[in-house]
Amino acid sequence: MDQHAIAHFPPLLQGFDLRSMPVLRTDVLVIGGGIAGSSAALHAADAGAEVLMLTKSPFSETNTSWAQGGIAAAQRADDSLDLHILDTLKVGIGLSDRTVTRAVVAGARDALAWLQQLGANFDREGGELALSREGGHTRHRVIHAGGDCTGAEIQRALLAAVQRHPRITLRSPAFVRDLVVASGRCCGAIVDVDGAELAVEAGSAVVATGGAGQIYRETTNPTGASGDGHALCFRAGARIADCEFVQFHPTTLYIAGASRFLISEVVRGAGAVLRDRNGTAFMQGAHPMADLAPRDVTSRCILDRMVATGDTNVYLDLRQVDGDPVKRFPSIAKICSAFDLDLRTDLIPVRPGAHYMVGGAVTDLDGRTSVPGLFAAGEVASTGLHGANRLASNSLLEGAVLGKQAGIASAALARTHSSQLPRTATGAPMVENPPRLQLDDLLYSLKSLMWRQVGLRRTAEGLADAQARIAYWHHYLQRAATPDRRVLELSNMLTVAALVTEGACLRAESRGTHYRDDRPARDDATFCRRIFLQRGADGQIVAEQGPLFEPTDQQA
Ligand code: SIN
Repeated sequence: MDQHAIAHFPPLLQGFDLRSMPVLRTDVLVIGGGIAGSSAALHAADAGAEVLMLTKSPFSETNTSWAQGGIAAAQRADDSLDLHILDTLKVGIGLSDRTVTRAVVAGARDALAWLQQLGANFDREGGELALSREGGHTRHRVIHAGGDCTGAEIQRALLAAVQRHPRITLRSPAFVRDLVVASGRCCGAIVDVDGAELAVEAGSAVVATGGAGQIYRETTNPTGASGDGHALCFRAGARIADCEFVQFHPTTLYIAGASRFLISEVVRGAGAVLRDRNGTAFMQGAHPMADLAPRDVTSRCILDRMVATGDTNVYLDLRQVDGDPVKRFPSIAKICSAFDLDLRTDLIPVRPGAHYMVGGAVTDLDGRTSVPGLFAAGEVASTGLHGANRLASNSLLEGAVLGKQAGIASAALARTHSSQLPRTATGAPMVENPPRLQLDDLLYSLKSLMWRQVGLRRTAEGLADAQARIAYWHHYLQRAATPDRRVLELSNMLTVAALVTEGACLRAESRGTHYRDDRPARDDATFCRRIFLQRGADGQIVAEQGPLFEPTDQQA
């Protein structure tokens, strides 16, 4: 295995011939249809741009659509922008960017008004927006819809707006294979749509493909969350950061054979308690915020408790929730009832699952990546808001606020720049003796490896071993005889897995979601900085440590 211990990533997944391929021209190409992609598309189109929006999966399968908890925004008299900022910085464990945090939190009011104007109906109490609470929040400030169906309601309103906008063309399912970068500028993409290849020529492109939870065995994410956008941006040469920070949600339903459905943190915000098989409420005393401790703390406590009690999971006890839990959390109640679990009387088996990629393509506040013409928004972007961990319900907020900025900036760029795809061909090397592959086996090997060795607890040894395996797997997958969509997606997953593992190797400390058993302490003197990764000229991952700064959670 050793000769392939270092991964080499080619700049393209596949060769293509732009001399013969049909070309579709647009001002702004938006890849992804969740809250960030839809906000970008709608704002770019409102600014006068022709927008082509491509989505791989149905709109009901975005991470946005699956979001339960809600969208964080200070509303009540006992709350303020400053308190919301403080909570965000605390959970970010010193690495959150203050300026970005203030900009996103301050954008909440307008973002909410805009979503409501588009028709999103949020739950109300006595005429005011109803608020719940989640981990890391010191106040009730999570706005929700249909109890636990917030994302679905937001997605419904956004999709309707996208479909009725005269300047947005929607193509789905469409799988973006590669971005095209010519003379250092992103000028379009190669897309598989309806079984045919298509080239898109665009003045600018916004990648908003969401997360990569599928690289882990346990995840709350939909099956489409394979990190395509992270891999696209990396291959295009964009600067990537913070990949070592993968947020694990403490409570996913854990029943053999059941899909790993998220049990929202608002359930614990409403009074539910985690218990072990002996009935002990183990979060009491483990952290001052008990069951509402930040997610990294709670997830690791659950893992420790599973080991201590020899159980495969712990239990969520909703019996003391305020009000009827079935009425408050209808979608969770429905999923559980299919397994004969009644939220009012039964303990719900849960364990952590990969939930959110903090890392991604580095952007400024307008979504610009380091590649001219290429923008990123939402989970695929690394804006600096989340630092080393994400405060609950800050992601829909970030998607709406910074998706808008990316839409406006990408439209402005497309107005002033006419880009042209080079009418050339890139050769695909002939492969002799392609490996005989069982893709399912490779996929599950990757997911298990990431869960065991690059999950909630990591060690230098486990990470080095994971790096070598991922490099080897990626090496032979590139030589697959039929590089169909499954191969390409798996190749993207291996790329993202390599980035996560590389970041985790380099960060020899524990902070936020990243926990190293061999380096259990936070080390501000060496690591209060971001780790940047980029594709080098020879295809290897090149790492660069960002400048050291004062931890932002301690200036709060
Ligand atoms: C949840 O409802 O617990 C998830 C919300 C989030 O990840 O922000």
